[in-house]
Amino acid sequence: MAKKIFTVSNFKGGVGKSTTVANVGYVASLAGWKTLIIDTDEQNQIASNFGVDREQGLDRVLMGDMTPAEATKEARENLFIIPAGQKVPRGKKELAADLQPNTFMTRALSEYAKGFDLVLIDTQPGFDQLVISCMVFTKAILAPVTSDAKAAESLVGFVNRVRELAAIYPEVHIARVIPTMHDKRYKITSEMLGELKSSFADKLTTPALTDGAFKSAHRHGQCVCEYAPKGNGAKSYIDITKEILAS
Ligand SMILES: Nc1ncnc2c1ncn2[C@@H]1O[C@H](COP(=O)(O)OP(=O)(O)OP(=O)(O)O)[C@@H](O)[C@H]1O
Ligand SMILES: [Mg+2]
Repeated sequence: MAKKIFTVSNFKGGVGKSTTVANVGYVASLAGWKTLIIDTDEQNQIASNFGVDREQGLDRVLMGDMTPAEATKEARENLFIIPAGQKVPRGKKELAADLQPNTFMTRALSEYAKGFDLVLIDTQPGFDQLVISCMVFTKAILAPVTSDAKAAESLVGFVNRVRELAAIYPEVHIARVIPTMHDKRYKITSEMLGELKSSFADKLTTPALTDGAFKSAHRHGQCVCEYAPKGNGAKSYIDITKEILAS
């Protein structure tokens, strides 16, 4: 098995899941960790972040047409990507027809994952069958959360669903909660951080600071740690990555 393996997930959309996967993966790869990013979200954001072809990927693995190795693209030195591909909905239909969908990702990927030091899986918002299969595979979950009241409410629901899954698969757990888009100028941000600290204690990472460079980086087919490595956003993701890899 890979040294570290995580599903990055949250009920809520737009909380920084894909940004976290791309930046943590990139920083880890620079630090010498042979990293595999698996994108399960048909938005294919990870492919855009690294400018790799998104035509085929995990969709084909779900359909049984490709092995994970065949679906992998080399994005940078030490950084490998299985894009989601264009036919994720069809892949999900195949998954639904599997006799044991919860363990599909474990069966399809555990052997291949042994060749990597770090595996990160990006997911779409929500808790569908594919997300469950990823969580059962990785056991450890990273949950990015933005600093607003709605996000906090939705995190409670997410934590409860993870607990329900852990009742069946006891090793499934939230390893880290990552505060994202953290803007120190707003009082609500520090209030929320305080609440998260009291709920998650040492599972809470350093917050990812807001930075306009995130949007520009995306337009350039790069993640922010590659595009603007000296900016606040990149610096915070470098710290977050160190904390995740150290634990
Ligand atoms: N720390 C940050 N500061 C500023 N903008 C950010 C930050 N993190 C992410 N963003 C921007 O917020 C938007 C949403 O982020 P992202 O796509 O990573 O969220 P997501 O949870 O993956 O969304 P989805 O649920 O649609 O998959 C993107 O435009 C991204 O560039
Ligand atoms: Mg995303």
